[in-house]
Amino acid sequence: GELAKQIASQLTWFSPKFSPKDVPRFYDISAVTENPALFQAVVKSMSARYRSMGDAAPTHVLGFDARGFLLGAPIAYELGIPFVMMRKAEKSPGVLLRSEPYHKEYAEAHPDTMAIRKGSIGPGSRVVLVDDLIATGGTAISGFQLVEASGATVVEFAAVIGIPFLDGVAKIHSEGNGKFKDVPVFTLVHDS
Ligand code: PRP
Ligand code: MG
Repeated sequence: GELAKQIASQLTWFSPKFSPKDVPRFYDISAVTENPALFQAVVKSMSARYRSMGDAAPTHVLGFDARGFLLGAPIAYELGIPFVMMRKAEKSPGVLLRSEPYHKEYAEAHPDTMAIRKGSIGPGSRVVLVDDLIATGGTAISGFQLVEASGATVVEFAAVIGIPFLDGVAKIHSEGNGKFKDVPVFTLVHDS
């Protein structure tokens, strides 16, 4: 709709020459956060989406370190529900639930294990997972593993932008013999 067009027109895509990683495209959520009207429109649109779900609405927002925090936290605030942080295990305090280690597509030498604090999402909770963008889907899969380990269910994974050519959704749906094959993935805008 209109919001997607507005976001798409504001996005900055960095070529490999200017991006911090050797990737074909690099998207920076700063284009949204540095534009207050657009930032408000994105947060309000996503909050309205979850508020409208009635009895099926999420009970928790799980945000992904770091750029997922920028969107997940204001959405949780708008909805008046807990905001849970998913971070690298070595950055997280207390007793942890840990994801399986995963590699980013763009080959960082060391796989990351993501974590939430044990007990931060109770059994039977309904969780929306929020990140700025989905590329290969590896980060999202860590989130699904942590929701599953909590005995909770995924409402959906939501990001401002999707990059379909990296097949993140296909990877999610085929991961772990298809145990996440029915998980909905919502993106406001897409880039091929
Ligand atoms: C970026 C982005 C997503 C992830 C998507 O995070 O913010 O979280 O990559 O990639 P994937 O679908 O292939 O997993 P990054 O690791 O660059 O860290 P940041 O959020 O801390 O900037
Ligand atoms: Mg990230």
